[in-house]
Amino acid sequence: MNNNSDITELGDLAIGMRAAYVRGENAMEYARKMSNTDVNSSVATLIAYDLQAGSYIANAKSDPKAREHWCNQLAAILNPYVTAESAILEVGCGEATTLAGVLNRLNNKPMQALGFDISWSRCAHGLTWLKENEASARLFVADLFDIPLGDASVDVVYTSHSIEPNGGREEAAIKELLRVAGRVVVLIEPLYELASANAQARMRSHGYVQHLKATAESLGAVVHDYRLLDYCANPLNPSGLMLIKKTAANLSKSSTIQWRCPLTHTPLIENSSGFFSPKTGIIYPVLAGIPLLRSNHAVVASSFEQLNFLRRLP
Ligand SMILES: C[S@@+](CC[C@H](N)C(=O)[O-])C[C@H]1O[C@@H](n2cnc3c(N)ncnc32)[C@H](O)[C@@H]1O
Repeated sequence: MNNNSDITELGDLAIGMRAAYVRGENAMEYARKMSNTDVNSSVATLIAYDLQAGSYIANAKSDPKAREHWCNQLAAILNPYVTAESAILEVGCGEATTLAGVLNRLNNKPMQALGFDISWSRCAHGLTWLKENEASARLFVADLFDIPLGDASVDVVYTSHSIEPNGGREEAAIKELLRVAGRVVVLIEPLYELASANAQARMRSHGYVQHLKATAESLGAVVHDYRLLDYCANPLNPSGLMLIKKTAANLSKSSTIQWRCPLTHTPLIENSSGFFSPKTGIIYPVLAGIPLLRSNHAVVASSFEQLNFLRRLP
């Protein structure tokens, strides 16, 4: 989907999805009906999740035991790959309820922790949750199909049910995660092929991902672990693990975070007012402390450097 159609779709769906949500309906379902499709577009996903922002923190507070089980399980899977020198990224981190719990349970505190979500509101709630839980991570807005980071710039890339709503785009999602990962990609996602018939029917009706293992293998990835998890919040959405290690040939020596423009793939220089690409004159702004790094956020500001903004700001 190109960016112009994204903007048009946002205009078409914003009012109707909000009204559907207020009526207590499923906003994604409303969007699928309006667009006469079985799949969830990025814009529909963004609006639907943004409308629900705050609900994951409310759930985490009302059922701390469930959160604890979930985060313990993920930390145990990630532990062998995280050292004190590592950079770790949660893709589609929502309100950081998983990210904060995982960070607090890892044996080694990684040198850098990052999380991004397509929804600004969820990142904003996430920052408060991180603070409340004394965890520290860099949160930003981005699209998992165009991650604003350089190749192999994060050692450990993981998801927790964030590829889930992107049925039909499995290949593009896995390709992008493999690009950004330096050592390992850990997908914690519902595994359609291992699910019951009832769960499969539900997953199909929600436009959820399928064929993750076959897709990864078709891309040449070697899947090292593939199974359902012991603990799962909803048996009709069975959480599983798919672990992909980068091969020796494409293993990065040391991951350093390099920001890159999601539109032109040129390097971005960070400062307090935004992320600037000297090669293109494009800047991505920061809203209330949260970098906006989707291609739709690009602002052409060729004079940003010339007027010394790069030097003026800390
Ligand atoms: C089911 S929630 C899980 C949130 C979080 N990972 C957790 O464990 O609590 C799925 C999240 O994925 C995000 N998401 C879905 N598609 C995305 C995309 N294309 N780019 C970035 N985030 C996305 C949604 O906004 C939502 O916050």
